Amino acid sequence: MDMLVKPLRTLNHTVNIPGDKSISHRSVMLGAIAAGNTDIHNFLPGEDCQNTVRCMRQLGIEIDQLSPTHLLVKGKGLMGLTEPDNYLDVGNSGTTMRLLSGLLAGQNFLSILTGDASIRRRPMGRIAQPLRKMGAQIWGRQGGHYSPLAIKGGPLQAISHQTPVASAQIKSAILLAGLYGNGATSVTEPALSRDHTEKMLAAFGADIRTAGLTTVIKPSSLTPCPVIVPGDISSAAFFLAAGAIIPGSRITLNQVGLNPTRTGILEVLMEMGAQVRIANQRESSGELMGDITIEEQGLRGITIGGDMIPRLIDEIPVLAVVAATAEGTTVIKDAGELKVKESNRLRAIAIELTRFGADIQETADGLIINGGRNYQGAVCESYYDHRIAMSCALMGLISEDRTVIKNARCIDISFPGFQDILHSLYPHS
Ligand code: S3P
Repeated sequence: MDMLVKPLRTLNHTVNIPGDKSISHRSVMLGAIAAGNTDIHNFLPGEDCQNTVRCMRQLGIEIDQLSPTHLLVKGKGLMGLTEPDNYLDVGNSGTTMRLLSGLLAGQNFLSILTGDASIRRRPMGRIAQPLRKMGAQIWGRQGGHYSPLAIKGGPLQAISHQTPVASAQIKSAILLAGLYGNGATSVTEPALSRDHTEKMLAAFGADIRTAGLTTVIKPSSLTPCPVIVPGDISSAAFFLAAGAIIPGSRITLNQVGLNPTRTGILEVLMEMGAQVRIANQRESSGELMGDITIEEQGLRGITIGGDMIPRLIDEIPVLAVVAATAEGTTVIKDAGELKVKESNRLRAIAIELTRFGADIQETADGLIINGGRNYQGAVCESYYDHRIAMSCALMGLISEDRTVIKNARCIDISFPGFQDILHSLYPHS
């Protein structure tokens, strides 16, 4: 499916953003191994999270989908999962494959995990290696570096592990396996990645503590806890960016997640010159959320790197679009992880924004963007990567004439309804 985008001259709107992808995945997985029913509101009905639901059902868990966004997960406790009678297909979802591997490492049965062409190119050695150290047997292509993965788990050895990169997926896989360990398992990362797993495990009663960059978990049983999933700040980012770059705009996004490990995008937009205000804050299962209002005020280029990168890892493609409109140069560094996401996002965004006339260069671990204006609409590739497709759509809003994004159906992976929201922002609708 191709998507057509026309220029948008200004916007003054309030928008509801669908639920957070990371938290939706975790709510179903933890609900499945909790002792009793977990009620989940504002669940993200995107393809990635539906894949998690299907996999958990295959593992013997009953999940009532009361509406697209309201789920009841009938958890069977830590030892309640049963051997699936077929392979588990995670589709495009790295979070499903890596977090589920952690859970399956503690199960005394065989599971086989696979997914689409993109997931089968993404590195899995980073989880296979520590999970093997804990005693799980894991086989995969090229020595376990790539899926399909076959996992035969069982009782595990507690370990202390230092992750080579700041990755919530690696950290979470080890922490979930740690629930099945014979003592305290600890994970230390080089910089803080998103901590949704830690927060939700604590809300479900697990014995888990974080000090600095180290988290320690002890085997614990989980008690169900109702979850209200906040709006996804990574989805909100496309509309925050629209509000920041379209002249004279102001936009409010209701009840978006404000977990500090995810709010790097807000800090960077403010440092670039946007005005951001937060209102109506509240908390659910350890996660902060609130209404975000952003106003366009003209932007300037900055340098983004170091510990900030994990706090906005999924927003770098959209930030490249923002930087293309800012005055001066924006340098993004220390972002080599983007090469192993759903696509090589550094390369993809550099190629696609160049089609509009942007001055953007890919470097070994980031991007250099010289800002400007007067962009021309383009025909873009999505690389079947939802965030690249939406970033190109954003660029289309500030470019003359028409922009076409090819293979844009992938947007449903993380943001069903994106096109409807976009259309609602035009004056005629
Ligand atoms: C995610 C963690 C991040 C992020 C991904 C979702 C998660 O990946 O890019 O979209 O839900 O834990 P890494 O942990 O591999 O950086």
